[in-house]
Amino acid sequence: MADHDQMDGLENAQDDGAMVPGSVLITEESIRRRVGELGAQIAADYAGRPPLLIGVLKGAFVFMADLARAIHLPVEMDFMAVSSYGTATKTSGIVRIVKDLDADLTDRHVLIVEDIVDSGLTLSYLLKGLLARGPATLAVCSLLVKEGQQRARFDVPYVGFTIPAKFVVGYGLDVAERYRNLRDVWVLDVGDEE
Ligand code: IMP
Ligand code: MG
Repeated sequence: MADHDQMDGLENAQDDGAMVPGSVLITEESIRRRVGELGAQIAADYAGRPPLLIGVLKGAFVFMADLARAIHLPVEMDFMAVSSYGTATKTSGIVRIVKDLDADLTDRHVLIVEDIVDSGLTLSYLLKGLLARGPATLAVCSLLVKEGQQRARFDVPYVGFTIPAKFVVGYGLDVAERYRNLRDVWVLDVGDEE
């Protein structure tokens, strides 16, 4: 990242009333541009069959709000919340549905909206469960995918950014519920950098 990007990030962070021990990985402006592209691509792919967007809480709430407004189709939206057991920064693959959907998925074109795919275990659990509810199609749009981390096999047709295997916060993503309100995506400095 160029220096001025980092400066922009710092100013934003101060505006947001929070300082992050780390550095900006993806600026607000790059996110805005990429979300616009994803929206246009999804609108083209789903023309004539507007999708039901399913946001996975809480991490996807910011992305969902921006993405939904970038898709110029009469989309519907629903949310579900899952909690994965594990440590603060690693998933175990054991997932519990904390809030289920209101919508019936039968014969719907369903697009899951996720913040980040790391090991892929959370998403693979979700996909299995939602497939069993009889959607016409089921696909995934994730803002971020971590490089080389996937332990589960599935296709993510819509990816915002592929990022290095570092822990990130901002734009909906948290550590211990903090930093979700930052406008940029930041790498959290965990002091184990090479
Ligand atoms: P997975 O099951 O390992 O793919 O992890 C998925 C979930 O863990 C995501 O939906 C996030 O909620 C959380 N997560 C994974 N990596 C990060 C990160 O770098 N920052 C914040 N949350 C993360
Ligand atoms: Mg998530």
